[in-house]
Formats: sequence, C-alpha cells, structure tokens
Amino acid sequence: MWIRTASERDLQEIRTLLINAWHDTYDSIYGADKVSEINEDWHSLNALKPKLTQPDSEFILADAGEGISGMAFASTRDGKVVDLHQLYVLPQSQGQGVGTLLLEELESCFAEARRIRLEVEETNAKALAFYEKAGFHEVGRTDDCGAAGSGLPALVLEKTIP
Ligand SMILES: CC(C)(COP(=O)(O)OP(=O)(O)OC[C@H]1O[C@@H](n2cnc3c(N)ncnc32)[C@H](O)[C@@H]1OP(=O)(O)O)[C@@H](O)C(=O)NCCC(=O)NCCS
Repeated sequence: MWIRTASERDLQEIRTLLINAWHDTYDSIYGADKVSEINEDWHSLNALKPKLTQPDSEFILADAGEGISGMAFASTRDGKVVDLHQLYVLPQSQGQGVGTLLLEELESCFAEARRIRLEVEETNAKALAFYEKAGFHEVGRTDDCGAAGSGLPALVLEKTIP
C-alpha cells in the first residue's frame, strides 16, 4: 500500500468510500436519512472535484493496489495551522494502520505548519481514540461541524506538529 495524491479519475471511488464510511460511522449518531442527505451534498462529485485544485491543500489517498482504502483532505489559510477536513478509511480496512499513514503524510506535507486542527463528533469513540493516540487534545467545540450552518456539534482537537 502506498500514499499518493488524488486525481480526477479517483473521484467516483473516493465518493463510494466516503458514502460507505459515513453510513458505517454516523448512521447510529445522525440517522441513516441524514447521512444519505449529507452524502448527496458534501460527497457529490461536484463537491469533491474542486478540492483537487484548491490552493494550499493536500488531497491524498491510501492505494492498496486493488483499490483505495483511505482518503484525507487538509488545507491551510496562513501556512501555520493546518485544518484536517476529512480522514476516512474503508470500514473493512480500519485498524490496520491506514489512518496513521495518511495523518503522518499530511503532517509532513505543509512545510511551515506548526499545528494541525480538526473537528470530531464527540460520540465517535473510535476516532477520538485514534486522535488521542496520535497526540491530539481538545481545544474547543463547534456547533457547525464540517460546514457553516451544518448544525452538527463537534469537539475541536489540535496537535503540535513535531
Ligand atoms: C478514525 C480512523 C481514521 C482511524 O484510522 P485507522 O486506519 O482505523 O487507524 P489505525 O489503524 O492507524 O490506528 C491507530 C491507533 O488508533 C487507535 N484506534 C484505531 N481504531 C480504534 C478503535 N476502533 N478503537 C480504539 N482505538 C482505535 C489505536 O490506538 C490504534 O493504535 P494500535 O493499532 O496500535 O492499537 C478510521 O477508523 C476511520 O476512518 N473511521 C471512520 C471515519 C471517522 O470517524 N473518521 C474521522 C472523522 S473526524
């Protein structure tokens, strides 16, 4: 398995991965209908495509040779703080180090960055355990996880980049 930059030909597979990972992770938290609604909006090809060319961002994939097992997207506004917007591993590939590899790659991509920040749903125990192991700590809360006006509450976590 290797980590590589996402390209336009990957978009449909990334969308499928996100739909699977979101239903697996969030159906029990937000309900399946809400998750389907979010998938049609945030994970549409039209929503994903601009991320490929967004300035000061990295859109990376874990490629297992027979398909993509994970994705991550992060960006920075000032060069110093990196916002990790998405980190998702296929349910059947979780717990095998894929998320760690993606996170480590992102931490090395932004040369001037001092900190990395993310939002995580507070009952997403798996993700919280993952981020805690990776060195993140809670710095605040948001009522609009993922997008302005989303109405989804979340914890804000940060970590200093070594
Ligand atoms: C959270 C996620 C990205 C972690 O990626 P992963 O590839 O499964 O994690 P790794 O295999 O790299 O695990 C690294 C460490 O995280 C912790 N961890 C990972 N999964 C865990 C789980 N289910 N329960 C407890 N701890 C867990 C462990 O400490 C693990 O270290 P170990 O294997 O030495 O015990 C992945 O599980 C995922 O995509 N989950 C669903 C979507 C999601 O919640 N994304 C984050 C949104 S903010």
